[in-house]
Amino acid sequence: MSSSKIDFAHGQTDPAWSGSEPLGLKLESFVPTRLHHPPPGTVPEDTLPDGVQRPKLFEHLDLPHSKLRLKNRAVVSPMCQYSANNGHLTPYHLAHLGSFALHGAGTIMVEASGVTAAGRITPQDAGIYTDEHIASHASIVSSLKTFTEGLTVGLQLAHAGRKASTWSPFYRGEHKHAEYVTKEEGGWPDEVVGPSALAYGEGWLKAKELSNQEVKDVVKQFVEGARRAFKAGYDFVEIHSAHGYLLHSFLSPLSNHRTDEYGGSFENRTRLLHEIISAINSEFPNKSIWVRVSGTDFAENAGKGESWTLEETKKLASSLAKTGMVDVLDCSAGGLVSFQQIKPAPGYQRHLAAGVSKLGIPKSELTVMSVGMLEGATPEQPGSLAEEVLQSGDADLIALARGFLGNPAWVTFAGANLMGVKPAGSPQYHRSHPHKKSEDPHRPIPRAQNNN
Ligand SMILES: Cc1cc2nc3c(=O)[nH]c(=O)nc-3n(C[C@H](O)[C@H](O)[C@H](O)COP(=O)(O)O)c2cc1C
Repeated sequence: MSSSKIDFAHGQTDPAWSGSEPLGLKLESFVPTRLHHPPPGTVPEDTLPDGVQRPKLFEHLDLPHSKLRLKNRAVVSPMCQYSANNGHLTPYHLAHLGSFALHGAGTIMVEASGVTAAGRITPQDAGIYTDEHIASHASIVSSLKTFTEGLTVGLQLAHAGRKASTWSPFYRGEHKHAEYVTKEEGGWPDEVVGPSALAYGEGWLKAKELSNQEVKDVVKQFVEGARRAFKAGYDFVEIHSAHGYLLHSFLSPLSNHRTDEYGGSFENRTRLLHEIISAINSEFPNKSIWVRVSGTDFAENAGKGESWTLEETKKLASSLAKTGMVDVLDCSAGGLVSFQQIKPAPGYQRHLAAGVSKLGIPKSELTVMSVGMLEGATPEQPGSLAEEVLQSGDADLIALARGFLGNPAWVTFAGANLMGVKPAGSPQYHRSHPHKKSEDPHRPIPRAQNNN
């Protein structure tokens, strides 16, 4: 690839690049360093200090249907990096995701990846919309798994719906139409679709209403995305049905005004999501399916009519549990409408996972993940809030996005805070912080560290 073809200043990608050139880095050249070391992010029984209970954050979790084992309860939440080239992941993604893997995250979810080219949020989004995309995803998954044991890696399957063809945060605001990318700029404004001909907000593109047949095609697009993801080696797929993207916009009465079998009643608005889950499960019955929803539109009090609320999320959770196909319900929130009312603060979305968890659905049917500023009630206490959420039963898993961005070694810091010792880590990072300040830096390494 000639990098001179890429206009880095404007975030344009090189249409000729296939993403499959050898990097010169060979997986088989990796020198395994882990002999006799426990997997990063785990706490072997004999390394727990006397009198210290194992934090829930460091318990493994076996998922209900796939039986996939997650080595701890800390999940890297999917994060668009706007750094893909025509949907292909790049070495950037390995550096970005590798840092979380090396430092003991139990599970990494790779960013929202478009199941169609027009289903990407921005031209720099990751994609899984052709068989050619499998290669770069497979490289990332196999690399991560080569240098960290016990890591589970998933892919978030996405369709941006009426929020497609927009600028990434790096370029928004520099353009005449800050709300969308024109055709001349590499966007696809004519292919922006939704359940109804409505826009996200003022200045945004009005979606083209999908025909009944086109809705059915969306099911196939997600199944194809799942097929490619599993071929690339992912352990699970998460269906992105949150943040105002296509599937969320079918769920909410604010964005779905359809009169066919995909609009109107709760059953009709949730039909597309159910059809996608069933179709993926019927092709891949042993594979793990996760679903991300916005637990609320945060628009109940906006005076704009019926919205998607926690009550509907709870109903959806019960119906998903009944299918026996979904391992994890990932409870995020918002993103559907420009008039949402959110007050971000530590644990600001916790009540949504808690509401679902309180339904008492057996863990053998569905597990629940919470996300939203869970890195710590204060910066000095990494892991304390996450542990409290898990201990209270509000969630079975904790996802962090910005917390991991700010501190890829968050799991290590959380372990040190919760147990007084570091969990196992990668041997190459043996001498990393946190250390106890009072200790001699050349001291013999305590047992829990000795195991990493
Ligand atoms: C840089 C960035 C990119 C994100 N991209 C995605 C994404 O691809 N898919 C998704 O569902 N959420 C995405 N999110 C939302 C996060 O996954 C997460 O739900 C949200 O940031 C709240 O968690 P936090 O407080 O731990 O950051 C993104 C967030 C950030 C900060």
